[in-house]
Amino acid sequence: MVIKGKVFIVTGASSGIGKQLSKSFAKSGAHVVCAARRKDHIDSLSDSIKSFGGSSLAVQTDVTILKECANMIEKTMELYGRIDCLVLNAGISMWSKFEKITNIEFFDDLIKVNYLGAVNCCYTALPHLKKTNGKIVSTSTAQALIGFPNHSGYVASKHALHGFLSTLAMEHRGEISVLEAVLSWIRGTNLRNNAFEFDGSKDIKTLKKHTKESVSLNDCVEKIIQAIKDEKREIYIPGKLRLLPFLNLFFKNYLERKVKSAIDENIVTEE
Ligand SMILES: NC(=O)c1ccc[n+]([C@@H]2O[C@H](COP(=O)([O-])OP(=O)(O)OC[C@H]3O[C@@H](n4cnc5c(N)ncnc54)[C@H](OP(=O)(O)O)[C@@H]3O)[C@@H](O)[C@H]2O)c1
Repeated sequence: MVIKGKVFIVTGASSGIGKQLSKSFAKSGAHVVCAARRKDHIDSLSDSIKSFGGSSLAVQTDVTILKECANMIEKTMELYGRIDCLVLNAGISMWSKFEKITNIEFFDDLIKVNYLGAVNCCYTALPHLKKTNGKIVSTSTAQALIGFPNHSGYVASKHALHGFLSTLAMEHRGEISVLEAVLSWIRGTNLRNNAFEFDGSKDIKTLKKHTKESVSLNDCVEKIIQAIKDEKREIYIPGKLRLLPFLNLFFKNYLERKVKSAIDENIVTEE
């Protein structure tokens, strides 16, 4: 896909991967619609894109509200008249073993944002994407493919999204394309600091650190953009993650041990 001149919508553009992707799309000559709940953040992102000569529109959007997703699409069509790519990036996480959870209500939020929020965006964007042979990109995770301790609700929401997008890709083969970016841990975003703790709050109780296995934000974004250009259906970042489905099928016990120790290495202390 040629990025220059195309219209991209990025959800979760106020921070981390979404923010960096928005800037990079704009630098490559795309028109970028920046969507998230925090208006001041997306306004200043959009202004900074315009300040280097890029084209951008900020639309305050809570992806859990269908009406707001419809508004995001309507505002995009009003200004740019087409949609070429929808980046499903808005997301929230958690850090707690299931049995330690004292308030389970945040499982609802995880499903509403990570899964149903993405469904809302696809539902409202699909007719427009079909007209341009457009693309849906998901900033997915290894946790959409296998279980991960301390992340049960997040894992479930990302599995749901993976299942939904695989189906959409089959139902609309030849009309739209889907790219799932299967990511490991990415440094330099706010996902961990905003993750739900065992009590349902976002007050940090589990201290986390990134190991040398983690990937930088720039590296991650560059690879996603290259995968869009190359019309890939999936990209594993880092590349060794492509072994996951194979290991899960033939070496499940080994994989589960590796995942468990990777989680332990990312935790400093646990209260
Ligand atoms: N960082 C990683 O290691 C990693 C690994 C694999 C996959 N991912 C995925 O990558 C995506 C981006 O994560 P990140 O690491 O960049 O996290 P981040 O820095 O915390 O950014 C999350 C973004 O999601 C937005 N968001 C949250 N709830 C929303 C809602 N209801 N409506 C609209 N936007 C909402 C936030 O904006 P507002 O709060 O302003 O709404 C923010 O812009 C997530 O889907 C995450 O699961 C991340």
